[in-house]
This record gives sequence, structure tokens and C-alpha cells, in this order.
Amino acid sequence: MKTHNIAIIKGDGIGHPVVDAAWEVLRAAAKQSGFALNGTEMPWSCAHYKETGVMMPADGIDTLRKYDAILLGAVGWPAEVPDAVSLHGLLLPIRKAFDQYANVRPHRLLPGVEGPLRRGGFDILCIRENTEGEYAGAGGRIHQGTPHEVAVETGVFTRMGVERILRFAFAQARARRGKLASVTKSNAQKYSMVFWDEITRQLAAEHPDVEVTSYHVDAMAARMVTAPESLDVVVASNLFGDILTDLGAAIQGGLGFAASANLNPDRKAPSMFEPVHGSAPDIAHLGIANPIAAIWSGAMMLEHLGEKAAADRVMAALGDTTGRGIGTVPGKDRMDAITAAVLSALS
Ligand code: NAD
Ligand code: IPM
Ligand code: MN
Repeated sequence: MKTHNIAIIKGDGIGHPVVDAAWEVLRAAAKQSGFALNGTEMPWSCAHYKETGVMMPADGIDTLRKYDAILLGAVGWPAEVPDAVSLHGLLLPIRKAFDQYANVRPHRLLPGVEGPLRRGGFDILCIRENTEGEYAGAGGRIHQGTPHEVAVETGVFTRMGVERILRFAFAQARARRGKLASVTKSNAQKYSMVFWDEITRQLAAEHPDVEVTSYHVDAMAARMVTAPESLDVVVASNLFGDILTDLGAAIQGGLGFAASANLNPDRKAPSMFEPVHGSAPDIAHLGIANPIAAIWSGAMMLEHLGEKAAADRVMAALGDTTGRGIGTVPGKDRMDAITAAVLSALS
């Protein structure tokens, strides 16, 4: 039987139960579709850091490279390990090492989910640059602890990096409704963001069939609330994309619904699939985290692995579940009940 080998990193907090839920659903869908998912769990997390002094072993990237994909829960337990240590020790190095430059995040309402805007009809695909920009890690601190201390963190925008994420976004727009919104802040940031806008215009000339509009990020934040149905594909730099996708999550009913794929579109290294949300320490032990974002991310993984029929099955089961009013309102249903409903909708 065809088997896909998946590295599983549950991470911290609700990363554990939501990945358990997703894995159960994915395995069931795989069985129905006639292929197997073989999972290997990596215990890498803040707990692992406390035991060993590292978030993942020195050969962690080499280990992961052998898998067909990575399924991740959430990383971070700020009460015990500083976020700048945990995220730079695990999640962010994976995105960079495997050149997962396209972070794809769909924002739409599942059936039966009302969302805070009380209006449906939007279907946004956010494409976030995932390897450079504001997250490049170029900078430093000098004169630490003195009154003349300096902290510098430089955004890094390369022609290759900007062009490839924009090309990816143009292709997505072509495959969808033909509209692309490119997001910058080129009125204030006159080097990197003007550069991004210029490349957007160059590529627009090559894609006359795609309707391209450039927005400033502040205006885009407002538009996502006031006119989300006017948007199709939205492409943004690493930090802007991060912020806009929590906003996207909010309008689709909450972080419990927001899925994401960290893609290496060239398929030269594994891609990684994870919910947009974090470890949610405030609800971590309550059993009320919504597993839908993780399950939806798993469906994106199946699609990436070429298992479109199984991915469609999972999305249909999610829609069936929320359509019956289960899992639609944060905190109303327990996670076990939502997972059980999705599993029974599958069969
Ligand atoms: P968070 O996403 O963990 O939580 C924000 C709010 O959303 C909380 O109130 C939480 O209870 C709620 N929430 C999140 N997911 C939910 C779900 N599935 N169901 C119901 N409610 C949910 O963000 P935070 O509190 O800023 O971060 C907590 C930790 O997670 C930090 O260490 C942070 O760095 C980390 N983090 C990791 C990732 C990741 O691994 N991709 C993403 C975001 C944050
Ligand atoms: C996300 C998260 C991460 C990011 C953090 C945890 C570093 O917020 O995946 O959206 O900013 O990329
Ligand atoms: Mn985020």
C-alpha cells in the first residue's frame, strides 16, 4: 500500500491534543482512500529544551529531511522558556532550512460558523513570505545594559525572495478568481517596500489576466474587516502576513479555524503543516481547544502529498460537523466531541 512518512512535532500546550485529533482524522481518511500514513513523533518542544538544553537536536534538520511532510502543533511555553529561544530553536529554523518560502493561509467561514462580522461571502487566501523580510534575523545588540544600548533588526528583501513569493501568489490568483492584492508599507518604508511594489508591477505586466491592486498594510487591515469579500489572494511580507493572518483567523471565527501550510513549492525539501494558532497556555489543560485548524492543516498536507480525494473527504467532514453546529462557537463544545463528530462524518 502507498505510504507517506510524516514527522510529527506536537510541540507545546494545545499543540499536543490538536495534533492527536488531526492525526486520528487523517489516518481515518487515508484508510478510506486506500493509502497509509506512517507517523514518527519528535518530542521537540519547550519540555525537551528544559530536559536537554536544546529545542531540537543538532541533527534535527537532517532527521526531518527524510520525511515526506511535517505536521506541527505549536511551539512556545513562555512561562518557562523565552519565546525568542523556543521559536528560534525549532519552528523558524525549519521554515528557513527547508526553504518553505510560501506560507499559505486560507480564511473563509466553514458552514454554520457565523464569525464576528456576521457576514459571509469571503474567501481569502493569504500568501505570506516565510523565509526573509522582517524575520531574516539580521541584527544585533550592542552596549547591552548601558544607557546607550542599541538594538538593530534589519528587514532583508532579496530580488529572488520577493519575486518567487509574488510569482507563487500570481499563480494562486490565476487558479482562483484572478485577483491579487499585494500588501506593503511603501509610503513609509522607502527601500524594501518600494522594491516589493516595483517587482509587483513588473510581474503584473507578465500576468495581464490577473487584476492586481497594491494596498498599504494599515488599509488592508481595515479592508479585511470592512470588505473581506472584495479580496481573493493577498500576498505580504513575513511580519505583515503574520499579523494579517491572525486578523484573517479572527474574521473566520477565531484562531481555532485558521490553517496553514509552509510550502517548499519546488519540493526539494519537506513542507510543514500547522495551525496558525500557538500553544494557547490560557486554555491548554481545559480540553476546549478547537482542533479544526489543525485538522484543516492536515487536509492541506494530504493535498500536498497528492491525496486530493482524502483531503476533500476531510474538508467535507469538517463542513458537515460545523454545519450541524458542532465546534462553531469557541468554548461551546469540548475538543473530544468535535473530533468525534468529524470522525463520524468521515465514515
Ligand atoms: P495563541 O495563538 O496560542 O493564543 C491566542 C488566543 O487564542 C488565546 O486566547 C488562545 O486560548 C486562543 N486560541 C488559540 N488557539 C485556539 C484553539 N485552537 N481553540 C480555541 N482557542 C484558541 O497565541 P499567544 O497566546 O500569543 O501565544 C502562546 C504561545 O504560542 C507563545 O509561546 C507564542 O510564541 C506561541 N505561538 C506559536 C505559534 C506556532 O507554533 N506556530 C503560533 C503563535 C504563537
Ligand atoms: C505564526 C506564529 C509564528 C510567526 C511565531 C510563533 C514565530 O505567530 O506562525 O503565525 O510569527 O511566524
Ligand atoms: Mn502568527
